Amino acid sequence: MVWFDEAFLQEVRDKTDIVAVIGEYVHLTRRGKDYWGLCPFHPEKTPSFHVVPEKGFYHCFGCKATGDVFRFLMEKERMTFVEAVAALARRAGIPLPREPLTPAQERQARIRQQVYGALEFATRFFEYHLWHTPEGQKALAYLRDRGLKDETITRFRLGYAPNRWDGLFRAARQRFAPEILVQAGLIQPREQEGGYYDRFRNRVIFPIADLRGRVIGFGGRALTEDQVPKYYNSPEGPFFSKRLHLYGLHLAKEAMRARDEGIIVEGYMDVIALHQAGFTHAVASLGTALTREQAELLRRQCSRVVIAYDADLAGQAATLRGFEVLAAAGLDLKVLRLPAGKDPDELIRSQGAEAFARALADALPLIEYKICSALEKHRHAGNPAEERAAVMREVVPILAGIQDPVLRELYTRRAAMWLAEDFVVRWGEEVSEESLRHMVRAYLEKSRKRASDTYTTTKNWNNRKVMGGAMARGGPGTNPIREAERTVLRVLLHRPDLIGRAEALAGYRWQTPEHQAIYDSLAAAAGTVPPAGLAAHLLATVEPAEARTLVAELEEEGRFIVQPERELQDALDRLRQDAKQRRIRELQAIFREREAAGQPVEPALLLEYQELVREFQELVRRTRS
Ligand code: UTP
Ligand code: MN
Repeated sequence: MVWFDEAFLQEVRDKTDIVAVIGEYVHLTRRGKDYWGLCPFHPEKTPSFHVVPEKGFYHCFGCKATGDVFRFLMEKERMTFVEAVAALARRAGIPLPREPLTPAQERQARIRQQVYGALEFATRFFEYHLWHTPEGQKALAYLRDRGLKDETITRFRLGYAPNRWDGLFRAARQRFAPEILVQAGLIQPREQEGGYYDRFRNRVIFPIADLRGRVIGFGGRALTEDQVPKYYNSPEGPFFSKRLHLYGLHLAKEAMRARDEGIIVEGYMDVIALHQAGFTHAVASLGTALTREQAELLRRQCSRVVIAYDADLAGQAATLRGFEVLAAAGLDLKVLRLPAGKDPDELIRSQGAEAFARALADALPLIEYKICSALEKHRHAGNPAEERAAVMREVVPILAGIQDPVLRELYTRRAAMWLAEDFVVRWGEEVSEESLRHMVRAYLEKSRKRASDTYTTTKNWNNRKVMGGAMARGGPGTNPIREAERTVLRVLLHRPDLIGRAEALAGYRWQTPEHQAIYDSLAAAAGTVPPAGLAAHLLATVEPAEARTLVAELEEEGRFIVQPERELQDALDRLRQDAKQRRIRELQAIFREREAAGQPVEPALLLEYQELVREFQELVRRTRS
């Protein structure tokens, strides 16, 4: 393997024009010695990103991204350091330093070359038979019949393996030794009489390529129902291993980078149908549970991934573990829900690309997917009480499984909301947030006790940072509404420009006089006092003294704010939703009373009730997305 010493790195740096490299991603304008442009690492309207060629670095005043030209490629192209150096060395025409190969290594390298050559030869052989032989016509008709355009068939280099024992072997043996063809997974030795026979016979061929587009193996699909197995693949070996590759990645990687998103499906045909329909950022996992290596491949292309598996398969434990592997690699993961029994290919065929686009837009974050699946699985399963118990049995472990306490709290709230939605609509009985939180806590206690001997620290769910301090508080007795109020105040204190968002709180009655006082002062000062002096202003003016102590605390907690706008919106939604829920309960109590007394209910109240339920559901839907 190659390694680089400082002198080599310096040579690469010296011969690399950092402005030219970054200029390929950012439109840069010269200002004095520096070059300015819109930051490629965060959305912005006015340039705060600049490159200083003299010093060889870039910096963004907005998002604080900074580094040298290697770092830029590592961030932007998700390359490793070695890859970034290699790419820039190639660009500058500097040969990579290399230790000389041993004779054994050299022989190995020659064999590898030949195996790749044989795989490419076979790809062309299969393509030729698909397009240009009478026998291939039925395979071509099959593919066209499945809705593939000729250009799609060409792009994916689909082929046909003729129905003969040694079609490929005969064609290839002048150029490749049998051992090479065996290593390439194209032929296998006959057991009795000696000689070899083709691995792929009478099948439609899907070449599988690596990231660079080199063919490393094949999937062969049966043309008829009675031919088994349906797909027959290259044998696992040093060149082809399902768990190390993703089908279609070489054709999808550009779109993945451009969109910073990828789609994962199960099958060959799903990838091809999606690409043909314009979703060129789709790849397939080839029917195995997702692996760390595949996660790594994806992470280099994009940060967001949507999984579009069959509904039955997606629910299976092994599949879900594969999803967790991607999440653990830091990918922002969503799961798309397909109509039962349909794969993406079938969905597009029957309902068009728009149907898939809609499903894509409705994809749920992994954890929500799990919770929603649990909710749906038991919907109308039996009587409401059983149904609720079953849902609780599943939802509680999912919530307890979230390692990050802040996220666990967040999703406990949301789950309670969704459960409450069902409660308002169907169950007629309350599942309160507090009771759900207690169940989760009890479950955690129990599993901790069980595991106390072997307890090791686990990685945070989704690799997100765990926030400490007051925001992570959530011990028994914490009032969630009060916490949400604090969040609103905390964010507004640091981002007074967001005060407009809080308009929804008009007439809202804060839970404590301190909260009320701080909010009133914030609202009054937001437009007039400069943000930097806001805390000081409040510390000097707010009454009573307890409120000032609280301002100091909130100011201190500012460092825990990660996504101010999102946190604010969540908290505001929560407060509005709580007010609605309270009113819904009040109205329900009134209805019950009237019913018991045999009195009619005012239409206005009924209307209000219906409206509230509608708004409540709307709010729930919004917090879901
Ligand atoms: P599916 O059975 O869902 O097939 O397997 P599919 O992709 O929908 O194929 P079509 O639409 O019937 O042609 C999903 C994937 O699992 C792998 C293949 O990669 C397939 O695309 N598989 C499936 C196999 O490797 N062998 C098999 O026998 C079946
Ligand atoms: Mn299919």
